[in-house]
Formats: sequence, C-alpha cells, structure tokens
Amino acid sequence: MAQYQTFPDAVGDSLTLDKLKALHLPELAGKAFLDVGCNEGFFCGFAHFQGAGRVLGIDQSAAFVERARKRFPGCEFREQDWSHLPDERFDVILLASALHYADDQPALIQALVERLTDDGVLVLELGIVSSRKAEWRRVKRGIDHRLFPSMPMLRQVLAGYAWKWMGPSVVQAGDPVPRHVVHVSRRRPVAYLLMQPPGYGKSSLASGLFPKAGVAVVSGDQALSLAAKGKAPAGAALKSLLDAHYSPYRIDAVVRRLFEQDMAGDLVALWLEGHEGEDVAIDAYVPAEHHGKIAQLLRARGYLPVHLDWQRSGPAPMPAARVAEQAEAFYLSLAAGEGAAPPPYRGPVAGHVDEIGMEDGRLSIRGWAIDEAGALPRVFSVRIGRRTLRIEAFERQLRPDVQRHLGLPHALVGYRLLVDEPGIASTAELDRHFQVVAGKSHVLVSGVPTHALGGGASR
Ligand SMILES: C[S@@+](CC[C@H](N)C(=O)[O-])C[C@H]1O[C@@H](n2cnc3c(N)ncnc32)[C@H](O)[C@@H]1O
Repeated sequence: MAQYQTFPDAVGDSLTLDKLKALHLPELAGKAFLDVGCNEGFFCGFAHFQGAGRVLGIDQSAAFVERARKRFPGCEFREQDWSHLPDERFDVILLASALHYADDQPALIQALVERLTDDGVLVLELGIVSSRKAEWRRVKRGIDHRLFPSMPMLRQVLAGYAWKWMGPSVVQAGDPVPRHVVHVSRRRPVAYLLMQPPGYGKSSLASGLFPKAGVAVVSGDQALSLAAKGKAPAGAALKSLLDAHYSPYRIDAVVRRLFEQDMAGDLVALWLEGHEGEDVAIDAYVPAEHHGKIAQLLRARGYLPVHLDWQRSGPAPMPAARVAEQAEAFYLSLAAGEGAAPPPYRGPVAGHVDEIGMEDGRLSIRGWAIDEAGALPRVFSVRIGRRTLRIEAFERQLRPDVQRHLGLPHALVGYRLLVDEPGIASTAELDRHFQVVAGKSHVLVSGVPTHALGGGASR
C-alpha cells in the first residue's frame, strides 16, 4: 500500500505537516473532532495532542485504519465509508484531499455540516480549478479522472452556508489542481440590532436599508403596543406588566421595567414572533447596559446578533434636568426684570399638598410651597412608615392661582414629587406616620391627608 501521509519515520506523497499548517484549524482542546478520510491518522493525532475531548477518524481503507490505530492508540478509528457517517455532533470536522472521491460532492458537504454542533466548523481542503464559469471540470490525474469545482461553482454549492476561503493549501509536486482551504459553518439567521437611544434615526435607517434586502424590520415600539392591546401573543407576566405600566409616551420606562423584572427573554420572544429563523432587523431602543443580554438571548435562539452602532447626527436635546433649570432661571429673570433684583418677599413660609396618587408604581404628591425668600424650596422630605426620603429632584410647576392669591412676583411655586417606595402599591397603604415637609422644617401635611387622596382642590 502506497504511503500517503508523511511521518518522521515514513515519507509519503503528501506534505502532511505543511498541510496541517495550511488548514487554519481552531484550537481543539476539549473539542469533538472528526476526520473523514483520515488515512493514517496524522490530523487525529494532532487533535489528541492538542487535548481534544473526542477524536474519531473514519476511512474506507482497512489498511490505513489499522496503521492509524497503531500510531495513535489514544484516538478512535473506524473502517467506514463516509456514506455512513457517525450519528454524533462534532465541533470540528475535517475533509482533506478527499471531496473529489465523492459521487455527490454537495451532498457529502451537506451531510458533514449536519453533523456539526451549532458553532461547529467544517474544514474543507480541496482542489479548485481555475475558471470564471460555474463548472465542475473533469481532471485527468495519474491514475484516474476526478471532478473538481471552479470557484464560481463552489460559491453556488456553499450558498446556503456561512463560509470563508482561508487561503491556499500545500503545493505538491505533480498536483494537477491547486488546493485551497475553506471553512464552512451552518448559516445562522442574522438579527441586525438597532438599539440606539431615541433621536438617532433608527427607524429611517432600518426602513431605508433592510426592506430592499428582503429583511423584515421589527419595530420594538409597535410590538409592545400590539402586545399591550392583546393583538400580539405575550406571556402572562409580560401582559400583566404591560396592563399595569404600558403607555405609548413612556415606552423607554416600560423597557427599563422589563429588564428590572428579568423579562428580557419575553421581549426577545415578542420581537421574533412570526420571524423565528429568518433574518430580521430589530428597531428598538434598549439601554446600553442591556445590549449584552439581548445578544446572549438571540444567540441562545440560534441567531447571529449583529449590533449596529453609529453617532447621532445633529445636536442632542438638553438633558431634562438642564432644560428645567435653564427654563426656570429664564422665567424668574422675566419676573425680576432685566438686571433688577426681585422685590423682597415679606410673607410667611407656606404651602399645601393638593393631590396624592399613584403613577407608574410610584407615589405622586402635588402641591405648592414657598420658603422665606418667596421661592420654591429646593428640597422636600417625605416620611412613609418609619422611613424618611429626601427629595431634591422633582418637577417644578407654575401656579398662577397661588401667585395671584399671595401677590407673588412669579408663579414658580408648584411641585410634583415622585416617590419610589416599593412597599407602597396604593395610597390606601399610607398611615398616620405619613408626612410631607418643605425645605428644612415646614410641615405641609402630617398623617393621611384625606382631602388630597384621589385628587383634591388646590388652594
Ligand atoms: C488523498 S487521501 C487524503 C487523506 C487525508 N485526509 C490527508 O489529507 O492526509 C484520501 C483518503 O480518503 C479515503 N477515502 C476515499 N473515499 C472514501 C470514502 N468513500 N469513505 C471514507 N474514506 C474514503 C481514502 O482511503 C484515503 O485515505
């Protein structure tokens, strides 16, 4: 029997060490490796040397298999035709210098890809004839005639897979066809992710790009709106969250809640509804800290997540707190008159709680207050049960009614406090400890203010 592979003790026709270097194999430690047409087992031996967890070589030649077993007792070898491939999944499958022996070459590639794990790779080393046409060319070799594909033909054969030309393989004396190495994997559906914040032009970008390529665009806002109306299937937990909190004006708050309550999987399922297994572009704002989670969930569903990242064009809107601060400063400057100091306030420290209710699971307290300088205090304290919460960030509101009543130079004395207190789900749970304090010590309310529950009149 002719010697094909080359070992230190046996020089064969093939430059096996050079071929090994040309294959661009991934790291094999812990991997399951199959060599189809393994010959004397050189590549199986290398996989074992690298610490592969499972190494199997198959070859139709009993003589080669016997030699392989002797050389590499730590590997498994089977005398087997590739028309009966093992019923297992492998991380790496090698088919080197053997495809041309197959009666149906595309069918052998397909059968091998079917035996790959989801992330597995088929390393194909094959001869490719030089031609611009998509053709199989019959090539006369020393002992026989075999069919070799041109590159355009290989492209057609591999169109349904993800694949990459890795480079030329060894050049061997007398080779009639140049050899190449190609890595082939399952083609996974792609999820193009457009998750930038509002105002980045996600929807324009998505609609300008993907429909032309036949890729469906999923609008995250629309998917949530349909689920909230019961027009898209949503699990019980998602439905109840949407029933309680969905508002078309606060979709970002709803999305944040979904992540807080560990329901990102429900969100991904909602996006993929009706598109599972297809390429899809997802146009949905997701806070940056959750992008990794979304990619992980999509990968688990067999998708290749492709994250699109770009800079916004045009000036960004001011942050809400800065707008509020600037707008209020401007408004007070109007009351004072250009350059003039506001007239000193001589009235009492005063204020009132007009209304207490629940909003998005938070306690909302609305009213008005003025400090000794005639301005809205900068800080409020709210006592709920035994806890006192200090609130510095709150919405300031105009109260012309209070301005008129007290003869103030401006109307910026209204407040709306939003209090995050997870223990309180309804205003009925407030008790006698409840207290709202304006500034350092002006108590606006102490005990449950029944006049304000469910909307009270303002004074
Ligand atoms: C040219 S050698 C290549 C050997 C090895 N893959 C390498 O590159 O060093 C082709 C190998 O494929 C094996 N072979 C050919 N037809 C086969 C088939 N139908 N099933 C399994 N092995 C086959 C041969 O016995 C031979 O060992």
